[in-house]
Amino acid sequence: MKILITGSNGQLGTELYKILREGISELGKIPESLQDSIVFATDVDELDITDIKAVEKFFSKNKPDIVFNCAAMTNVDGCERDEEIAYRINAEGPKNLATISQCYGARLIHISTDYVFFGDGTIPYNESDTTNPNTVYGRSKLAGEQFVLNLCANSCVCRTAWLYGYVGNNFVKTMLRLAREKGTLTVVNDQVGNPTSAVDLAYQLVLLAASQEMGIFHCTCNGEPVSWYTFAKRVVEKAKLDVSVNACTTEQFPRPAKRPAFSALDNRNLRETIGDNMRKWEEALDSFLESYLEREGMS
Ligand SMILES: NC(=O)c1ccc[n+]([C@@H]2O[C@H](COP(=O)([O-])OP(=O)(O)OC[C@H]3O[C@@H](n4cnc5c(N)ncnc54)[C@H](OP(=O)(O)O)[C@@H]3O)[C@@H](O)[C@H]2O)c1
Repeated sequence: MKILITGSNGQLGTELYKILREGISELGKIPESLQDSIVFATDVDELDITDIKAVEKFFSKNKPDIVFNCAAMTNVDGCERDEEIAYRINAEGPKNLATISQCYGARLIHISTDYVFFGDGTIPYNESDTTNPNTVYGRSKLAGEQFVLNLCANSCVCRTAWLYGYVGNNFVKTMLRLAREKGTLTVVNDQVGNPTSAVDLAYQLVLLAASQEMGIFHCTCNGEPVSWYTFAKRVVEKAKLDVSVNACTTEQFPRPAKRPAFSALDNRNLRETIGDNMRKWEEALDSFLESYLEREGMS
């Protein structure tokens, strides 16, 4: 099997490349059909997904069977400031990959976000709930989803949320840094979602890729949805940092892009098809922190 990962230097891309290379993750072995695959791990320097000629050339030379599109503009406030670039990367990029994947008969696994929903829910959104994004990031990602589903027959759109992994910046690392620098944290308590480990997501995506399933899948860690404040408290407790964590409101912490108040996702389609292998968020976070803190010499 030949597998292309785009955006492979990012949080998710790095984790996917690792488990495909090693054939195993802490959650289990990858499916037999994907073992010993040739993996092309590319980021923008090697393959810019907004350049359709480059995408075509890559496929013509390497003929991947499966494509994981982890490339995106994920800076939510940056998208608000530069709508054109956001659409180019989050909508035109997936359109190019979908068009060329269809031509070459490749299976496309595309990653999307909880921001496609308005974010005023009270129970977790499932895959058939109506989308209504409230930000440029959410609108550009929704456009990307639609291109993938309309242009590539053999495709899955996998929506995740509140992602953290070993590389790049994320909420977990920011909390650890601020806790050490400031000794106190003030964190928003009126936005609720699903903290999700890139380790769990990468494994679930590989299982999905090896299946025959198509369509939209929600892929977030399980357990009760929580606020950023509750998430931060768990990070600090598990890292055994002696800092106070204070709750604040969204109003007290204004940002250029509006954050969803409640955008938790329900992995209904996974449960009803290949099975939901995502751990509870607390378990996945504890496991991540254990290895991350040891790796960084902070344990
Ligand atoms: N992070 C989250 O909390 C979160 C939540 C929900 C959904 N998601 C979705 O999950 C997916 C993976 O997110 P992530 O956190 O792993 O993202 P990430 O860490 O920001 O990685 C994205 C990667 O894509 C690269 N990239 C940007 N433009 C590109 C282009 N034109 N061609 C090829 N590569 C390009 C980026 O390079 P540069 O860094 O140089 O730009 C980066 O290495 C994305 O689809 C994202 O929308 C993320």
